Order: sequence, then structure tokens, then C-alpha cells
Amino acid sequence: AEQLRIALAGLGTVGAGVIRLLEENGDTIAQRAGRPIAISAVSARDRTKDRGVDLSGYAWEDDMTRLAARDDVDVVVELVGGSDGPALALAREALGHGKGFVTANKAMVAHHGLELAELAEQEDAPMRYEAAVAGGIPAIKGIGEGAAANRIARIYGILNGTCNYILSEMESSGRDFGDVLSEAQVLGYAEADPTFDIEGVDAAHKLAILAALGFGTRLDFADVEMIGISRIRAADIAQARALGYVIRLIGLADCEDGGRLFQRVAPYLVPASHPLAGVSGATNAVVAEGNFAGRLLFEGAGAGDGPTASAVVADIIDIARGNTPPPFAVPVSALRHTESADP
Ligand code: NDP
Ligand code: HSE
Repeated sequence: AEQLRIALAGLGTVGAGVIRLLEENGDTIAQRAGRPIAISAVSARDRTKDRGVDLSGYAWEDDMTRLAARDDVDVVVELVGGSDGPALALAREALGHGKGFVTANKAMVAHHGLELAELAEQEDAPMRYEAAVAGGIPAIKGIGEGAAANRIARIYGILNGTCNYILSEMESSGRDFGDVLSEAQVLGYAEADPTFDIEGVDAAHKLAILAALGFGTRLDFADVEMIGISRIRAADIAQARALGYVIRLIGLADCEDGGRLFQRVAPYLVPASHPLAGVSGATNAVVAEGNFAGRLLFEGAGAGDGPTASAVVADIIDIARGNTPPPFAVPVSALRHTESADP
């Protein structure tokens, strides 16, 4: 069968992970996709950087938006980051050319997802973003497709691996906040600007995306209340433990029948016996409550090269198979407007 030809923009933690995964599991992936997946071209900032992967077989573009205009590219994969700037320009260019578009960029989807979804629909171009929420966990697919028959009452969970790593490491080893954050950065969990992680912004991006998918509402990132973990001290964690709780950064959204949407990210006290209390390290957990499926719990690695690459390549396989529902599970025109909750 004909190859699916992709271009990769961004060759950092996730981009290099995608190359390694396509190399290592190429046969399995081709079998599942129904055809081989081949990288035609790549782009990043620094052409000379050693990324631990062999780029010699791929064309290089200094200007990443040019990837979208190449005749030898069917799907553009954006692994650069940033809500605007080059990532957004590339997304518009790729979808505008009718190419498939895959991204791990929750900041961009949270801010511009509706515009991009409209463009995708207009151009009949597939757009997928599984890796944008909860790393390797198929949460987008789980809620947007697996639970599609349900009315969802609530969605909540641990949506940021860096924060969960920091909180659970501080808890188990009594180590200092700054120390553990530096380690999370070295391990490739943190955002380029880690204040997005520790101030709750990254979790808020993900929560807004899950809420739109689960409740069929228009994405409303501006409505998410957020408090991060930067002011949590080792003493707070010890005090919580003495009372039988652990501290977890939780994102929670619910939507009443009338359309009133509530979205909040904040550190919560979680009883030590609750399943979310046992989620440690860079693990994420997403809970969705459906009126027929009941309580669904998705748990797994929420950050890092391997798990995130796994979700990115799953999206590419979906496009190769022609499995491409609308980006928000229903056409953008069918998404409901909501009334935001009172502060
Ligand atoms: P990195 O910082 O490791 O990599 C970013 C890549 O983009 C680098 O190759 C960099 O080039 C390139 N880049 C950055 N800015 C520009 C620019 N202005 N022009 C051209 N190239 C640019 O990030 P990650 O791989 O960690 O993250 C990529 C995306 O995936 C982000 O949207 C992130 O939020 C998301 N994500 C990350 C996860 C993780 O665990 N790391 C998990 C889930 C999603 P160069 O290498 O030359 O500097
Ligand atoms: N910085 C993010 C996190 C990466 O720590 O969860 C995964 O989205």
C-alpha cells in the first residue's frame, strides 16, 4: 500500500522520541496502519544539534512552515510548542493546504483549537491531538470516542506530570521543591517555561480541552480558574499527611444541564485511601463520569519522550487508516455555548 508521508517540526524530547518509535516499531506500526509511515522532511531551530537520532535520510527545512507546502508530505506533525508563533503558523499552513495535522501542543489547542478545527473541517483535513492531554494515556480518544454515547457529568484528574512528580517526590523523600523541579526538567517532563507547569496553566490547557470534548461545549480556556503548586511547602505536605491526606494538583470540570460550565485547577487534599492519592511520579489519571458507562478511570505516564511519542504515533496511525472524526468529536458548529460559572 502507498506510504503515508509525514513531516516533523520540532526534534526535542517528543520529536526525537517519535523518530525512535517509528524506527523501532516500524513493522508493527505499518501493519496496524495498513501502510508504511515514512518521514520525508524535518525542521527545528538548530540543524547541527546532536539529537541521538539519524536525520540523514530526511530533507531539512530551516523555515518550518515550508513543510506544509511540500508535495512529499501528507501529514504535518507539530512538536515545537507555544500557543502562537511558529507552531500556529504551521498549523494554519498545513490545514490550509489540506494536509493532515497532528500536534502535542495543548497550549495552542486550548487557545486556537476552535479556529483550527473549523479550518480542518472546511479543508476536509484530519486534525488529531491525542498527545496534548495526559501524555501516553488515550484520554482524548477515551472521552471523545470511547465514551461518545454518554452524557458526561464530571471530568477530573491529575493532568500535569511535572507537578505530580514534584508533589510525590517531596512527599516520599522530603526533598526541596526547586531540586525536584530541576530533576523533572532534566527528565523531559517540564514545559520549556516550567512556570506553565507549576502555576497550573498547563493543567488548565488540558482541562479546557477535555471539557470541550466531554461536554460538547465550545473551548473556553479563559474561564478556567487556576491555582498552582509553587507555594506548597514541605511542611504543608507533612501536615496533610498527619491528617490522612496527600496533596495533588487536580483539574476538575462539570457542566450542568442548563450549560453552566465550571472549570478549576487547584491543589486539593486527597484522602490517602482515594485512588488518586496513589498516583505518583509523572503519572496522570483522568476520570470521566458517564451516565451509561459509569466512572471511567484512565491512568498512565503523563509526560516524557516515550509515552508522548506513543500518543503522537497513534494519531498518525489513525490518519493512515482514515479514522478521522471531527477534532472535538462533533462539528464545531454543533458545540454548545456555555454560561461560565460565577467566580
Ligand atoms: P522541546 O523543547 O524538547 O523541543 C522543542 C523543539 O522545537 C526543539 O527541537 C526546538 O528546536 C524546536 N523549536 C522550538 N522553538 C522553535 C522555533 N522558534 N523555530 C523552530 N524550531 C523551534 O519540547 P518537547 O519535545 O518537550 O515538547 C514539544 C511539544 O510537545 C510541546 O507543545 C509540549 O507542550 C508538548 N508535550 C510535551 C510533553 C513532554 O513530556 N515533554 C508531553 C506532552 C506534550 P532545537 O532543538 O533546535 O532547539
Ligand atoms: N509538562 C507537561 C507535564 C508535559 O508535566 O505534564 C505533558 O503534557
